[in-house]
Amino acid sequence: MTQAAVEVWRELACPRDRSALEPRGEALVCAEGHEYPFVDGIPVMVVDDELAPTQPGYWSSPEQVERVREAEPPPVEGEAVDPYVAELILGTHGNLYKHLSAGLSRYPIPDFPLPRGDGELLLDIGCNWGRWTIAAARRGYRPIGIDPSFEAIVAARRIARQLKVDARYVVADARRLPFADETFDVVFSYGVLQHFSKADVGISVDDVRRVLKRDGYSWVQMPNSLGALNVVRLAQRRFREGDAFEVRYWKPSELRRVFGRIGPTELSTDGFFTLNPQKRDLDLLPRRFRAVVHVSEALKRAHAPTTLADSVNIRSTRHR
Ligand SMILES: C[S@@+](CC[C@H](N)C(=O)[O-])C[C@H]1O[C@@H](n2cnc3c(N)ncnc32)[C@H](O)[C@@H]1O
Ligand SMILES: [Zn+2]
Repeated sequence: MTQAAVEVWRELACPRDRSALEPRGEALVCAEGHEYPFVDGIPVMVVDDELAPTQPGYWSSPEQVERVREAEPPPVEGEAVDPYVAELILGTHGNLYKHLSAGLSRYPIPDFPLPRGDGELLLDIGCNWGRWTIAAARRGYRPIGIDPSFEAIVAARRIARQLKVDARYVVADARRLPFADETFDVVFSYGVLQHFSKADVGISVDDVRRVLKRDGYSWVQMPNSLGALNVVRLAQRRFREGDAFEVRYWKPSELRRVFGRIGPTELSTDGFFTLNPQKRDLDLLPRRFRAVVHVSEALKRAHAPTTLADSVNIRSTRHR
């Protein structure tokens, strides 16, 4: 491996014991001998240990890596949208975007919800093809996106290259972050931790705290069980907690308690009556769904209480 490649990855650490990594051939190795390959230049740092994959069918494995390497499509030209985006739209963007699985006229990239950055190092957890990672880069941050799916990360790298966005990507798990302590200014995550069991969210929150710099902060989107739409969804499944990759719903008090482990925590509204549509995507949505976004934005402007919002943002500042 070239010195340049090692330099680029100097933020990485062993996800098992957090110790420093040294290059050896096409791999990174820690002092304990744990080894992580670079596959076509992508660090693959998911760990096979007692934590079961959160999303087994979509998890990096030797088979997934082989399949993706054999079938990687060519990069698309000009303004065209990489076909992976339409293929994944239901998974990344949610039900209101379903009709777009037939194809897209532009990339559905949201406005980044944080203040303009000035080169701050930002981690995007569960980035998939990187809509938020790209949004963060365009807003002035220096982002690293992680996702346990090799397929998603290969697509993310391909799309970032097409769009000439400066972003780095690693195959990794939110619960086993492959970074040294106190690495990031900001940790961001949207639509990811909501699919984890409550125990797995606890593990991720503790690891987010660990990789945040002192005074750094995290910004995580989660569903509120007191939101009107979520009450209906919960009733439809007879108030089951949920399993596998189903959405788990959290009370604001529970969110404050768990994320409070990072440090002082505040909730704000992401949306009412919906878990994901973005104002920036209005032109891509059918008229009836546009109305939902307009109502949600109006309620936000009217300062409707966050405790009743369906989707909330949780901002936690790491204690000194
Ligand atoms: C609903 S998608 C959201 C993707 C992206 N954040 C967005 O908003 O477009 C959920 C993502 O979480 C990823 N994911 C699943 N388990 C994960 C884990 N343990 N750690 C990090 N990401 C995970 C999935 O691979 C998938 O890309
Ligand atoms: Zn190690």
